Amino acid sequence: MSARPILLVTGGAGFIGANFVHHVRAVRPDWEVRVLDALTYAGDRRRLEGAGCDLIVGDIADTKTAQSALEGATWLVNFAAETHVDRSLLDAEPFLRTNVTGTYRLFEAARQAGVAKAVHVSTDEVYGETRGAAFRETDPPAPRNPYSATKAAGDLMVLATWQTHQFPVCITRGVNTIGPWQHPEKAVPLFTINAMRGQPLPLYGRGEQQRDRLYVEDHASAILAVLEQGEPGEVYNVAAGNNRDNLSVAWRICERVGAPQDLIHFVEDRTGHDWNYALDNSKLRSLGWSPRYDFEAAMDATVDWYLEAQDWWVPILDGEFQAYYERQYGERLAGAEAFRG
Ligand code: TYD
Repeated sequence: MSARPILLVTGGAGFIGANFVHHVRAVRPDWEVRVLDALTYAGDRRRLEGAGCDLIVGDIADTKTAQSALEGATWLVNFAAETHVDRSLLDAEPFLRTNVTGTYRLFEAARQAGVAKAVHVSTDEVYGETRGAAFRETDPPAPRNPYSATKAAGDLMVLATWQTHQFPVCITRGVNTIGPWQHPEKAVPLFTINAMRGQPLPLYGRGEQQRDRLYVEDHASAILAVLEQGEPGEVYNVAAGNNRDNLSVAWRICERVGAPQDLIHFVEDRTGHDWNYALDNSKLRSLGWSPRYDFEAAMDATVDWYLEAQDWWVPILDGEFQAYYERQYGERLAGAEAFRG
């Protein structure tokens, strides 16, 4: 009898990582799944309840920890990252440590451990903003904020391990993802929670910027497709084609929650706010993947989950988050203008 393949998921207690773990456990039940996660403010072991995997608490930038987590691993999928643009504008240091140094050290340890294939989960933001055509994988990185600059640097280091050492890696670049267990700092959960509590929804600028909203289950199935079928050394865009402006997103949330639209408040814009990200996903589609959730289905499934999951998110709103919220939104909301139909 052959041994079960072992998949190490780093950052597996985060939003997309944990959804990926549950997806893999459901569709590849014979795989052993192991998670390494630093459990920063954004990580939460509660996301892994019932997943049937071991959780090792540790940092990808700590080579010894990574080496021991990688022992015997067949594959690696890396989700570990600092992800929130607004936090990167306040302090980019943790982004450099995890997204650049941590990524490099993890992939170096994986290469030396003889992992058969590794996938690095990245973002559409590395291409920079677009006001027209969708980005293809051959477009050069042109990041515009500290978060996306560190993700682009991490991507280049990962690709270098393929070019210099032929370590088989793939990179996925996903659009804005929504669904269960996303941290309340991100726009869709934040707006939903505020709408439920009768608090203002802080919309940057006039809410005209656009994002593609990919349901997390579709993102998880895309990453699995790339792990199993992606060509080594290749990048794959993951996009749903559900682009909408942020004001439309806030409207949909108010409607679903049953909250009045005048809770929407226009606040001072994010500096360097990217206008739009749009990705061509034909390369990924050629592997047989396609998204199952359109904009309405993705939004409604997400909002409905938050309506039911107060036990999960209420405790997160305390402590560190409260201090962050005050710093990010205190002055902005004091000078806000309510939406008037
Ligand atoms: P976000 O969820 O932070 O993701 P990203 O910056 O990676 O795209 O933001 C999504 C969009 O919503 C983005 O255009 C910024 C906007 N936004 C607001 O208008 N208000 C907010 O409070 C937040 C967090 C985001």
